[in-house]
Amino acid sequence: MKVFSKIIETTAFIKKQKDLGKTIGFVPTMGALHEGHLSLMRQAKSENDLLIVSIFVNPIQFNNKSDLEKYPITFETDSRLLEEIDCDVLFAPTAVEMYPEPIVKNYDFGPLGDVMEGLNRPGHFNGVAIVVKKLFEICFPDKSYFGEKDFQQLAIINKLVKMENLDIEIVPCAIVRESDGLAMSSRNAYLSISQRASALCLSKSLNMARDMVDQGERNPEIIKLKMETFIGTFVETNIEYINFCDPETLEDINVIESETLLAIVVRVGETRLIDNTLL
Ligand code: PAJ
Repeated sequence: MKVFSKIIETTAFIKKQKDLGKTIGFVPTMGALHEGHLSLMRQAKSENDLLIVSIFVNPIQFNNKSDLEKYPITFETDSRLLEEIDCDVLFAPTAVEMYPEPIVKNYDFGPLGDVMEGLNRPGHFNGVAIVVKKLFEICFPDKSYFGEKDFQQLAIINKLVKMENLDIEIVPCAIVRESDGLAMSSRNAYLSISQRASALCLSKSLNMARDMVDQGERNPEIIKLKMETFIGTFVETNIEYINFCDPETLEDINVIESETLLAIVVRVGETRLIDNTLL
């Protein structure tokens, strides 16, 4: 595996590979890799000649300074995992390398960027879009892989690709969960033993909602109330939002009559956990 920290050497290497006719599969990450990340990478590896992974804890997508400061960094383990899955290139730049000049770009994603994570984390998606666009310009992917765990991020990236006329296929990848249902996340490492037990309220309440819909319930408000009561029985939990929306437009829905995205954010102690399911 080649490990680059400089843009110029990364671009030079990848350009040469493209000239040789190789296809590029790209997985951007912020490191602290787990099975969720690795599933994206395995798929990218199997569908392309080369797998490029980036590890960059992107400061401009953190609207909360302490969240950025405590973000887990496990570079040695990450490199080993990447070697194991036969990654071809790891691009791991510094913040100065990525942002030599102050950032002025301001994307407007319309209603897609104004709800849920957009509303609760001001500036977050602008930071994500800026870094992903830069990474695309450095890595020239044919296909790039994103997890459905960050469903709204995936929608924003699809929009970015359209807005910027990028010739890149965005491949959505299913959520990978622990055996008890908790969606894998780098942030799960922050949870104490009791908080880890409480964290199950997310996947369990989503399952409960799915069961209610299967049994004919069509009113989001009734389902939401049940979920709130259920989550309230877990210690140290604080619901940030429970949203029922159209999976394409992310607009709120009042009646569940076609495929619906149910997205949830719960703080467990200080840790902000996110999950979703399609109903
Ligand atoms: P990060 O949180 O490291 O996630 C990198 C990719 O892994 C994202 O596409 C995310 O949706 C996916 N992922 C994380 N946990 C997953 C799980 N349990 N199952 C499936 N996929 C999962 O998302 C980011 O980094 C950043 O915002 C980034 C796109 C790299 C831009 O900085």
